[in-house]
Amino acid sequence: MPSLIDSFQQAGQGQVFAFLDQLDAGARARLLAEAAEIDLAEVARLNRTLLAGGAAAFELGDLVPAPYEALPEHGGSAEAWGRARAAGDAALTAGRVAAFTVAGGQGTRLGYDGPKGTFPVTPVMAKPLFQVFAEKILAAGRHYGRPLHWFIKTSHQNHEATEAYLAEHRWFGLDRGRVHLFRQGRMPAVDFQGKILLEQPGAIALSPDGHGGSLRALARHGAVDLMAAEGIDTLSYFQVDNPLVRCVDPAFIGWHLLGGSEMSSKTVPKAYPEEKLGHFCLRGGRLAVIEYSDLPLALQREVGLDGQLRYRAGSIAIHLLDREFIRRVTRPNSGSELPFHRAEKKIPTVDAAGRPVRPAQPNGVKFELFVFDALPFARRPLVIETRRADDFSPVKNAEGVDSPQTCRDDQLRQAARWLAAAGAAPPVDASGRPPWPIEVSPLFGYDEETFGRRWRQLPAPPAVGAGLYLE
Ligand code: UD1
Repeated sequence: MPSLIDSFQQAGQGQVFAFLDQLDAGARARLLAEAAEIDLAEVARLNRTLLAGGAAAFELGDLVPAPYEALPEHGGSAEAWGRARAAGDAALTAGRVAAFTVAGGQGTRLGYDGPKGTFPVTPVMAKPLFQVFAEKILAAGRHYGRPLHWFIKTSHQNHEATEAYLAEHRWFGLDRGRVHLFRQGRMPAVDFQGKILLEQPGAIALSPDGHGGSLRALARHGAVDLMAAEGIDTLSYFQVDNPLVRCVDPAFIGWHLLGGSEMSSKTVPKAYPEEKLGHFCLRGGRLAVIEYSDLPLALQREVGLDGQLRYRAGSIAIHLLDREFIRRVTRPNSGSELPFHRAEKKIPTVDAAGRPVRPAQPNGVKFELFVFDALPFARRPLVIETRRADDFSPVKNAEGVDSPQTCRDDQLRQAARWLAAAGAAPPVDASGRPPWPIEVSPLFGYDEETFGRRWRQLPAPPAVGAGLYLE
């Protein structure tokens, strides 16, 4: 077996150890540990396939919009939705489902310094994203009489901070033994010649391998085996940026299970053609998500005979994954490995003398995996419509669209709708927003139904007015 350093040299990546002699023992050990994380054969393959030809134009291939299961109000069969709901309820009661949050991101675009899950989002109590999810998961566990497992994928950058934060808040009421944090993998950045870059003389330029890396991380960290041991066959995947998400949605789960699907995804019709959502398409007959940056604008704007956008099925990054499917797509040489995407970036590095270089232009490439790239490998994949107002309002930007403000407004509108459905309609403006803050704790009600039931049980419902918090 060649030593680690030898194998880097043989792979033409010896520059990684250019400054080894100048490092103290601790720094050497850290550099060697980072190098050991790297799969040199994988890097060589990516250099051949993604780097050699430069930035190839995205291959659209033979593309049509993907069909999806419409909501009853858009023509779907109410009876079929009812059957799906019953099947999902049964699966949750049987403890077959776990929740999974990808929380590798920092709130960089928000201008927030810390794990994104710690960002405060609710309109009255300013609860952080993690608390919102934890309480929804706790409430669903109580409702079904089966506490849920919750997997959280962190990154190297935020793992410790995330764990410390959740511990400090006593896991927001969840059983510690059912919350599982694990780090996602990292990939080295390379220059345009395919040489692995150093970020510092003693540190490799490593970055998260994308949310698609969460699948291999689930397998590597034993989550898939734990699911098997616990009788869990379905994983409910969502992003940390979306507090409106129904963490486990019985109707969605039912469609997935009754359809014998290995991976199912939620869709909402795009609000406007340029909305930054991925698009569900059939490419060469297989279901795929084509990113907003890859689908030509002319296609994003194309309108069908019915007057609707042809490519309207937007991805809100909510998926269900079958446990054995995760095992299959993460097995080496399975023939269904997720493809990497390349992104040209300005990567801080060092020059030949080890001095820091902050490039003004992209100087290299980062490699990332996207979870939705698993769809083409799934048997009987399904796309199921959902109501945006009850499932999707992400916090991505400090201001404007998908900001803390738009998300708070959407939460207020939801609370007002639930109150109205329970017979206590507050006054609202033309957009459905009440004039003052109302917040419903997921422990009071985590959807319209559970909310209505609880509200009607109150011996003396509170006056619906300024600053109402229901818990
Ligand atoms: C993403 C989707 C897009 C979808 C939209 C819905 C991609 C490439 N695009 O866009 O199709 O319509 O969300 O909101 O994902 N993350 C990690 N580790 C990583 C990278 C990302 O955990 O290495 C997590 C982040 O914490 C975040 C999520 O993945 O929760 C999304 O990443 P982001 O880069 O914000 O994607 P968007 O451009 O918003």
